[in-house]
Amino acid sequence: MAEHVRVMLTEEEVDAKIKEIGEQISKDYAGRQVHLICVLKGGSFFMCELAKRITVPVSFDFMSVSSYGGDTKSSGVVKIVKDLDDSIKDKDVIVIEDIIDSGRTLSYLLEMLQQRGPKSLSLCTLLDKPERRVVDVKVDYTGFQIPDEFVVGYGLDYDQRYRNLPYIGIVEFD
Ligand code: IMP
Ligand code: MG
Repeated sequence: MAEHVRVMLTEEEVDAKIKEIGEQISKDYAGRQVHLICVLKGGSFFMCELAKRITVPVSFDFMSVSSYGGDTKSSGVVKIVKDLDDSIKDKDVIVIEDIIDSGRTLSYLLEMLQQRGPKSLSLCTLLDKPERRVVDVKVDYTGFQIPDEFVVGYGLDYDQRYRNLPYIGIVEFD
């Protein structure tokens, strides 16, 4: 089946928003160092762009979790596929996500990270689909709230493709 991607948020819109979030984080964390945790693979493009826009000292680490045990629906059972390299104890941590959908993955992840004793723990997501929320999660920084559509680009995939698109789009089948 042929498919194409319809643009939802242009590269310029996404870049401008990331710049804004970077400025906000730089203000909120003035005089401190932030430790960014990227949730792979989707959060990688967003984290790299965001990190470039943060003016306070930045360190980062990566984590990979899977919540979709082969199924297409988030089960709430989160498996750590790759854990962090470094301790987050006493650090000002910001978890960087591509999108919050049901919220199941994030709520589990945040609880687990909280137990490791960070000085602070915040959540930053490029996209949020509030209509889809099943588990309540407190989001500190949101790029865009979007309707309940399946989106790709800027790290988000459809069957592992389209992560490299420099914009956010909706996959449409012809
Ligand atoms: P949840 O919030 O636990 O339901 O899961 C969020 C994860 O589901 C995200 O990190 C993405 O990997 C994936 N996901 C949710 N919505 C989309 C979408 O529209 N496009 C691509 N991946 C999505
Ligand atoms: Mg993800």
